[in-house]
Amino acid sequence: MKRLIVGMTGASGVILGVELLRVLKGMDGIETHLVVTEGAELTFRQETGLSMDDVRGMADVVHDCRDMGAAISSGSFRTEGMVVIPCSMKSVAGIASGYSANLLLRAADVCLKEGRKVVLVPREMPLSSIHLRNLKELADCGCVVLPPVLTFYNGADTVEKQIRHIIGKVLMQFGIEYADFRPWCGKT
Ligand SMILES: Cc1cc2nc3c(=O)[nH]c(=O)nc-3n(C[C@H](O)[C@H](O)[C@H](O)COP(=O)(O)O)c2cc1C
Repeated sequence: MKRLIVGMTGASGVILGVELLRVLKGMDGIETHLVVTEGAELTFRQETGLSMDDVRGMADVVHDCRDMGAAISSGSFRTEGMVVIPCSMKSVAGIASGYSANLLLRAADVCLKEGRKVVLVPREMPLSSIHLRNLKELADCGCVVLPPVLTFYNGADTVEKQIRHIIGKVLMQFGIEYADFRPWCGKT
């Protein structure tokens, strides 16, 4: 069983995290560990009609973001790594500086110190030089910085298809096959 930590923060686009959980729930051999910041809970209320219980119900294991003693706060708890989707600029700054003020930031810090994969889906527009500096720092530390940008080359002509494409790009980072992902296979 592969364990994957899914973190959600208060950036716009929390539905991306929900979709990732939904897709992973339908797959065998993957155990999701969810951690959601208080900021994300606020954004959920603002952007979706989902309750937090709905969202938590999609994960295999749910961790309280205030619980610094949770399994994912230790490197001895083995995981494949972590996805932070969406990732706010506050959490970007927290991870970049190693300031582990909550469990999500601590889990990312742990993954980095253990050499595990950390995929960040940062969302802000426009990006300031502070945001860019922090993201560059994270890329230099080995994080995969995967912003949720629009795609135009594969017929993704609905929001749902755009979201699926982003999820596919995230899953690719962990070598996870996703049937609904339409990669570019050359010009036909
Ligand atoms: C509806 C809504 C949308 C937001 N969108 C963004 C965003 O796209 N990017 C961002 O960095 N912060 C955004 N914020 C602000 C963050 O939620 C805020 O900075 C929060 O403190 C982040 O904390 P967290 O990373 O611990 O969740 C948004 C807030 C709200 C209420």
